[in-house]
Amino acid sequence: MKTGLNIVILTGSGISAESGIPTFRASDGTWHNHKVEDVASPEGFSRNPSLVHEFYNARRQHLLSGDVEPNAAHDALARLEREHDGDVVLITQNVDDLHERAGSTSVLHMHGELLKIRCNTCGTVFPTDQPTTIESVCDACAGVGSLRPDIVWFGEMPFHMDVIEQALSKADLFASIGTSGVVYPAAGFYQIAAAGGAETIEINLEATGSRFDETFVGRASETVPEWVDLTLS
Ligand code: APR
Repeated sequence: MKTGLNIVILTGSGISAESGIPTFRASDGTWHNHKVEDVASPEGFSRNPSLVHEFYNARRQHLLSGDVEPNAAHDALARLEREHDGDVVLITQNVDDLHERAGSTSVLHMHGELLKIRCNTCGTVFPTDQPTTIESVCDACAGVGSLRPDIVWFGEMPFHMDVIEQALSKADLFASIGTSGVVYPAAGFYQIAAAGGAETIEINLEATGSRFDETFVGRASETVPEWVDLTLS
């Protein structure tokens, strides 16, 4: 591997599947008991905020339970960041904190984070490990019922897009890991990177059909450490 390469990585829920967090579109996945528009859209939140609070409270509680921890794929990406001699930019669609727990720093959570809430009135974002309700009070402006999960819902603008687009345009190597590649704008990142001259690879349980230069098929806990070893060698 050449030295000093700019590496940009995009992860999706497949990387956390072996940590016990369901993916979104599997038959028993995150959405299976819910209509997406009820729990992941601003309109759904306006219609039934209690349902939405409960949905994210349950996911937050599960994330913080002893049942969930980073797996070998998260660990390998943290090692890549520590040992690679060029830039490593880690973008995730995941709202869990498993990359951070594994040791990755500066993770770009483009779809928000389960362990943060936001006040719809004053805009303040707070860390939280507690359940929220329609009666929760904002610590900054004292507004009642103004808190919402700091999650990007369908129809909303993903976070960090300026930084992400800049990183993609400078990438020498782009890796997409554990994502079905059906949700934009993330699904189009490999094309932006390729247009800037990057080599593009996909690591997934199954080939998604997108046109990457190379696809590694297998479980993330096995394929990602192998790819990191190869990249660092
Ligand atoms: N290792 C590697 N890949 C896996 C594994 C595994 N152990 N298990 C599942 N996968 C793959 C699946 O084959 C699938 O292609 O992970 C992918 C998960 O796809 P989705 O369920 O569509 O999840 P994701 O791509 O993260 O969804 C993107 O959609 O609903 C929104 O905001 C939500 O961030 C999410 C976005």
